Amino acid sequence: MNLNDKVAIVTGAARGTGAAIAQRFCQSGAQVVLADIRDEAGEATAQSLGASATYRSVDVTSTAAWAAAVEQTLEQHGRIDILVNNAGVLHQGAIENTSEADFRRLLEVNTLGPFLGIQAVTPVMRETGGGSIVNIGSVDSLIAMNGLTAYCASKFGLSGMAKAAALELGRDGIRVNTVCPAGGNPQMYVPWMDKVAGFIGEALAYNDNRGIPGSVPLESIVDAVQFLASDSSSHCTGIDLPVDGGATAGNFVPGFNTL
Ligand SMILES: NC(=O)c1ccc[n+]([C@@H]2O[C@H](COP(=O)([O-])OP(=O)(O)OC[C@H]3O[C@@H](n4cnc5c(N)ncnc54)[C@H](O)[C@@H]3O)[C@@H](O)[C@H]2O)c1
Repeated sequence: MNLNDKVAIVTGAARGTGAAIAQRFCQSGAQVVLADIRDEAGEATAQSLGASATYRSVDVTSTAAWAAAVEQTLEQHGRIDILVNNAGVLHQGAIENTSEADFRRLLEVNTLGPFLGIQAVTPVMRETGGGSIVNIGSVDSLIAMNGLTAYCASKFGLSGMAKAAALELGRDGIRVNTVCPAGGNPQMYVPWMDKVAGFIGEALAYNDNRGIPGSVPLESIVDAVQFLASDSSSHCTGIDLPVDGGATAGNFVPGFNTL
C-alpha cells in the first residue's frame, strides 16, 4: 500500500481524521497538500509533517477555491494522483430543530464540496492516466439515525454520487470510492455535548450494539483510506467500505450468544 511518488490532496486535514490521513500518506511516500479553512491549525499540522506536506486554504464549497488549489498543486508537484474528500460538518437536531440553512450547509460542505473536488481534479487525472478519489462518508451513509436527517441526507448523497462518478470515470482510470467510518474526531461533537449531557450514557449505548463494540480508532479508518488510495485496490471502484465494527452488518442482541 505504499504511496511512493504520489501527489495527494486531503481536504479537512487541519485536524482529526484528515490530519491522520495526511500523516500516514506522508509516511508512505506521498507529497500531500492539506486543505482546510482552519488556516492556523492547518499550517501547524502541515509543518509538523515535514517537507512532504503543504497547507492550502481551501473552502470546499467554492469552485474558485478548488480551481486555485488544483493550479497551485500542479505548479508545485506537476500532477495529482489522489484526492481525499474528507472535509465535513455535523448537525445534530430533530427535524423541527434543523433549519433550512442548517440543511443547506450540510449538503454544501458534505456533498457539493466533494462533487466540486471530483470535478476539479478529473481533467488533471485523466491527462496523467488516472487516479484515486476517496470520499469520507460515514456509517450514516449506509444506515440512518434519528436526529441526523441533514447529516444522513448529505452522507447518503455522497455515497450515491461516488457510485455514479465511478461509473462515469472508470474508463479514464479514475476510481471513486467511499470509506464509511463509525467514528472519527470526537471534537466534531463538541458543539452538541451540552445538549446530550443529560442522557450521554444511554445515547452512547448504541456503540455497544455491534459485533466489535466501542468506537473505531482513527488508525483503522486511515488503513481503509490508504488501501483505496493505493494501487493495491486497482479494481475497487464505486464501493462503500464500512469501518464500523459491524454496525451496518446488523444488530448484536445481548444474551443471544449464550442461547
Ligand atoms: N467524528 C466522527 O465520529 C465521524 C464519524 C463518521 C464520519 N465522520 C466524517 O469524517 C470526516 C472528518 O471528520 P472528523 O471526525 O475528522 O471531524 P473534524 O471536525 O475534526 O474534521 C473536519 C474538518 O473539515 C474541515 N472543514 C469543515 N468545513 C470545511 C470547508 N467548507 N472547507 C474545507 N474544510 C472544511 C474542518 O475545519 C475540520 O478540520 C467528515 O467527513 C465526517 O463527516 C466523522
